[in-house]
Formats: sequence, structure tokens, C-alpha cells
Amino acid sequence: MTRATTDRTDASASRQSAPEVRSRAATRPYPTKNDLPEAGRLETIGLLNQRLADAIDLQMQCKQAHWNVKGPTFIALHKLFDEINGDVAEYVDLLAERIVQLGGIAEGTVGIVEGRSTLLDYPLTLSTGAEHVAALSDALAMFGRTVRVGIEEMNELEDAGSADILTEISRGVDKWLWFVEAHQQGG
Ligand SMILES: [Fe+2]
Repeated sequence: MTRATTDRTDASASRQSAPEVRSRAATRPYPTKNDLPEAGRLETIGLLNQRLADAIDLQMQCKQAHWNVKGPTFIALHKLFDEINGDVAEYVDLLAERIVQLGGIAEGTVGIVEGRSTLLDYPLTLSTGAEHVAALSDALAMFGRTVRVGIEEMNELEDAGSADILTEISRGVDKWLWFVEAHQQGG
């Protein structure tokens, strides 16, 4: 057996163990002195991981728009889309770290996000400012809706901290939706 073959076998073995780790965390959070009830934390962790997948997808959609926008409004939109990306990166971190604080595993890999995000895939062939404004405002609005639903879910689970984080994210997303949508208004 060559060394390369051995390495491949090791890598494949460690990949195969990943679902077991996930399923253990899905049935039992890590122990913590946090006094939120374990059953509620488990549900919150699952719901926040769904929002985390959406947020990571949204962040990459902002970059996709930032990189590919063209036309007379290029520089303004190029900078705006990157500013939004910066804030969405903070939302990603807030969600992921809340999940870990509650004893969960933040599931932020590309493979997980690909299968879990509820956002529409960002079209690859857009070029004009108007096209990217339409696509990114759709993505922001979809994300904003799921975050608003998430606030209600956290209220029902009596987790004020997670509701507060989602409320902060919701305020930010509503602001950025305004910044993007304003390009379609006033005409
Ligand atoms: Fe850039």
C-alpha cells in the first residue's frame, strides 16, 4: 500500500465519522451551566443552524454581486454589496457562536449549507446593476422573512437571548434591503 493510498483511506474514514458526530449533537447538546432547559436548547440549536445556513448563503450571494456587477452604477453598487457582505459576516458569527453557547455544533460547512439553505441559488449570468439589485433584494427579503419567523420561534421557546440576536439581524437586514431597493424606487 502506498503512502498516498493510506492518506486517502484515513481521509475517507474521518469523513465517514462526521455524520455520527452530528447525530450525537442532534440528540444531546454539550453539557453547560447555562440554565435554559436542554429540550428547548436542542430545538433552538436546530432552528439557528437553519438560519446559519441561510446567512452563509446570503453572504456569498453578496460577494457574487460585488464581484460581477457591471455598468454605470458599478462603483456604488460594488462598494454597497461589499458593505452588506461585511454585516452579513457578523450575522453569521453571531448565529454560529450562539449555537455553540447553547451546547450545539455550529454547522457551517459548504456541504451543509448547500443542502440546507432556503434561499434561491444566485443566478450566475447577471451583469447590470438593475439585475443584481433585483436578485440581491430578493435574497435579502427572503432571508429577512426567515429571520422574522425565527424571532417568533425563539419567543415561543422563551429564549430571549436568541430572539434578541435574531432581532438585531432582522433590523440590519431590513436596513440593507432599503439601501438596495432604493435603486428601484423613485423613478
Ligand atoms: Fe472586493
